[in-house]
Amino acid sequence: MARQSVALAHAYRLLNHGPTVLVGAASGDRHNVMAAAWCMPLDFEPPKIAVVLDKATHTRELIEQSGEFAISVPPRALLAATVAVGNRSGRDGDKFGPLGLHHFTGDQIAAPLIEGCVAWLECRVLPEPHNQSRYDLFIGEVVAASADDRVFSGGRWHFGPDDDALRTLHHVAGGAFFVTGEPAGGD
Ligand SMILES: Cc1cc2nc3c(=O)[nH]c(=O)nc-3n(C[C@H](O)[C@H](O)[C@H](O)COP(=O)(O)O)c2cc1C
Repeated sequence: MARQSVALAHAYRLLNHGPTVLVGAASGDRHNVMAAAWCMPLDFEPPKIAVVLDKATHTRELIEQSGEFAISVPPRALLAATVAVGNRSGRDGDKFGPLGLHHFTGDQIAAPLIEGCVAWLECRVLPEPHNQSRYDLFIGEVVAASADDRVFSGGRWHFGPDDDALRTLHHVAGGAFFVTGEPAGGD
């Protein structure tokens, strides 16, 4: 092993393997969805997550209006749609129909959850105006969560040989992704 220096501009890539997610938002009769790689758990009880939402995104505008957002975890089968919703804006037109994406309403919030995903988290924004404005960082309390029991049950992910299309996506930047691999460790 030779330890090599990594440019600071690339430092985040060393930690970037968490699942890329779809962030859904709604305000009034407007619904939208975007991709986000920068989403992470923040606390256990009550559960909280953090997500970075660029000021230019339409999704952020809807979230600021509604105080809610939905996280859907897309599987490999939705790779193309994930890239697509991350490369066009809802301001320029509906993304759902043209991309063949369908959404449904969760248990607690109005923001759209995406069909075909393998996990969903419904979140209410915990307002932190300074962090939102300065760092584009939004913190949400998770008020409901659900998952596809083919790959998540008993509180654990479990991907088998027949679940390749359901494996989660992990953006490693530059448009490249890994999919979840084999388990290691654990009990
Ligand atoms: C794989 C991927 C990951 C992305 N991660 C983020 C992210 O973490 N935060 C963010 O603000 N934008 C991220 N983006 C960009 C947004 O998804 C993109 O700006 C999108 O077009 C915004 O759509 P909207 O204007 O309809 O909200 C990502 C895009 C891709 C393709």
